[in-house]
Amino acid sequence: MENLSRRKALSLGVALGLVGAANPVQAWASTGTGAGSAAGTGPEWIWDDAADPLMASMLDQGHVLAINTAWASWVNNDDPLPGGLPAEFAAYLGRVNRLPSWADQTKLTRAADFNRRRDTYLFMLYGLGSGIMSTVIPREAKSVYWSAGGADMQDRAAKTFTFGYDLSELGAFKPTGQFVVTANKTRVVHAAVRHLLPQSPHWRAVADETVPISAADILVTFHSLGTYVHRKLLDWRVPYPAADQEAFLHSWQVAVHLLGVPYEHIPRTWAEAERQSAQVLTPILAPSTEGIELAGELLGLTAQIDLGVTRGFLNEFVRYVLSDEVGDWLGLRRDYASAALVRTAWPAYVLFREGLSPVMPGTFYMLDQFVRALAMLFLNKGSSGTTTPITIPTGNRAA
Ligand code: HEM
Repeated sequence: MENLSRRKALSLGVALGLVGAANPVQAWASTGTGAGSAAGTGPEWIWDDAADPLMASMLDQGHVLAINTAWASWVNNDDPLPGGLPAEFAAYLGRVNRLPSWADQTKLTRAADFNRRRDTYLFMLYGLGSGIMSTVIPREAKSVYWSAGGADMQDRAAKTFTFGYDLSELGAFKPTGQFVVTANKTRVVHAAVRHLLPQSPHWRAVADETVPISAADILVTFHSLGTYVHRKLLDWRVPYPAADQEAFLHSWQVAVHLLGVPYEHIPRTWAEAERQSAQVLTPILAPSTEGIELAGELLGLTAQIDLGVTRGFLNEFVRYVLSDEVGDWLGLRRDYASAALVRTAWPAYVLFREGLSPVMPGTFYMLDQFVRALAMLFLNKGSSGTTTPITIPTGNRAA
């Protein structure tokens, strides 16, 4: 089931709007140093030289619980490093907890403003599009499922929202923002997972790799987030001027770099990102036992809050943003009346909301409640309304 035919991959790519020129050898080379994948030097061969050995040692020496306690109060980008960290770990954070020299504050400020102006669409697309797409990225689904966090999806979803929320906040990259810290915490969590998951017999039984979360995998996930959202905003004809597009890309370039991906492998333009996405994301999308279960849990969580729509509508909205093929893989029950409604009412809603059509659709208030409720779900960071601390796992999911 995991090997999609090329034709299926293409039709899915068309549905997701992610099809571009397809020459697999060029996938990473377009941003890197030549035929990297052939030579064993592409991003699928890169993990994290700075963080991985450190976290293996922190886990083996039993320092992780102390780190989790010490860094709970370390939140803002300009917060001093907390006391109580092992010296080696503090020295590492001291080195990496900063923006790269090529970060452009003007673009980052514009990106933050764009995120605020477009937050409802972004939360919808990240939450129902990218979030559910992550369950049909087999490597991601399997590692998320078998890592410790997979056992409590509500908590994990809330932590992941923290990343999106901190990235989207005005001033996210400024000294008083929180994103640089959140990204560095995430980088360290990924490094811990690289040490822990290979010790899980459950993960090893289903994985097609020996160490998870390569730089290539992170780029794949970036395409399921940034590149996908970029394409959908254009598809939906949401006003999205070139300066916003560039700023949005830049914020993701910085985010991906803070997660440890070397600069030379990060796409420079959206055209490059879309090309890469068509080559490395679209063809690998496939259902897995783990992904189907995770999607059920994620949609179950979303359905718990009152979105002002039925579960059938929610299922059909996911089908609308991700294709029927993905909906079928995940077993999302059909609701044909809602399907017809979504496909006509949503484009009309966007056009009216953006002042591109004078006709207010009859379903305007229902859809407005839906987008507001989803946005609140994100803005409340899942449920509590307070920062959900990112913590380093110390083990894997038991079974
Ligand atoms: C943890 C974001 C790529 C697998 C996390 C966390 C965040 C995050 C915020 C910490 C919160 C939590 O514990 O859930 C991202 C972003 C990515 C990315 C923004 C790329 C742009 C990936 C990839 C994989 C992956 C490519 C696997 C293929 C995991 C796992 C955890 C994790 C297994 C640990 C969950 C646990 O605590 O057990 N990620 N991630 N991530 N991520 Fe990622």
